[in-house]
Amino acid sequence: MPDLQELLSVATEAAARAARLLVDERPPDLGVAATKSSPTDPVTEMDRASERLVVETVLARRPGDGFFGEEGADRAGTSGVVWVIDPIDGTVNYLYDHPFWAVSVAAEVEGEAVVGVVAAPAVGETFWAVRGGGAHLSSDAGSRPLQVNSGVALDRALVGTGFGYAAERRARQGAVVAQLLPRVRDIRRGGSAAYDLCSLAAGRLDAYYERGVQRWDTAAGALVAREAGAVVGGVRGAAASPELTVAAAPGLFDDLAALLAELGADRD
Ligand code: IPD
Repeated sequence: MPDLQELLSVATEAAARAARLLVDERPPDLGVAATKSSPTDPVTEMDRASERLVVETVLARRPGDGFFGEEGADRAGTSGVVWVIDPIDGTVNYLYDHPFWAVSVAAEVEGEAVVGVVAAPAVGETFWAVRGGGAHLSSDAGSRPLQVNSGVALDRALVGTGFGYAAERRARQGAVVAQLLPRVRDIRRGGSAAYDLCSLAAGRLDAYYERGVQRWDTAAGALVAREAGAVVGGVRGAAASPELTVAAAPGLFDDLAALLAELGADRD
């Protein structure tokens, strides 16, 4: 097993450099460079520049590592460590200068995240976790450990979620939300899966679920949530995946996952 403190130091440096770039070099005329799953699913030049900077920062310290990034970074490496990168999670928020966006950097060993850093510079927060070492939030106020809310019943839960960008998927997700809304306290759609998972870890949400999130969206945030005491999984006993990712404290997780399965939230 590699030195996890070294991986944390690399992840923190890479996420911080990318976060600074995204804030300091954000062009006034930031436009959409390309679209992905639909015409409303944007990629900006800043997404690409951020991913390049994360990769360059890691390689300068760990030349044998592999990468898997949203904007195309893809190499196996030779060290057994693979960096999973979302250079801007919440690109629509970044485009609109809405503060809930983050740089998400996770180090995986044998397909499992061992270190995760989620830097959200527009709100001055960096969330981080090392497997087995708890989850933490660093900000101007200092650094503090995180713990999910426990003992919250489903009908009192504040639930975060998100939506894909393709019209058919969205219509289905809207139908699920319509049935969920009367059964919970309320719903939030923050616009960044990584930040949502960290919000859960910080007790700002009681639960989170989403269909369609990819490995780069959730790798770091799911480790932060788990290390803060959340269960992160799928429904019907499945692991968390693009089919459906659900996260909440034990107990609430079971109740929410059962309801989401009943509502077919893992199906189009
Ligand atoms: C998106 C965000 C959003 C979620 C979408 C993701 P991106 O990631 O995480 O919250 O609802 O499904 O695609 O594209 O901005 O990196």
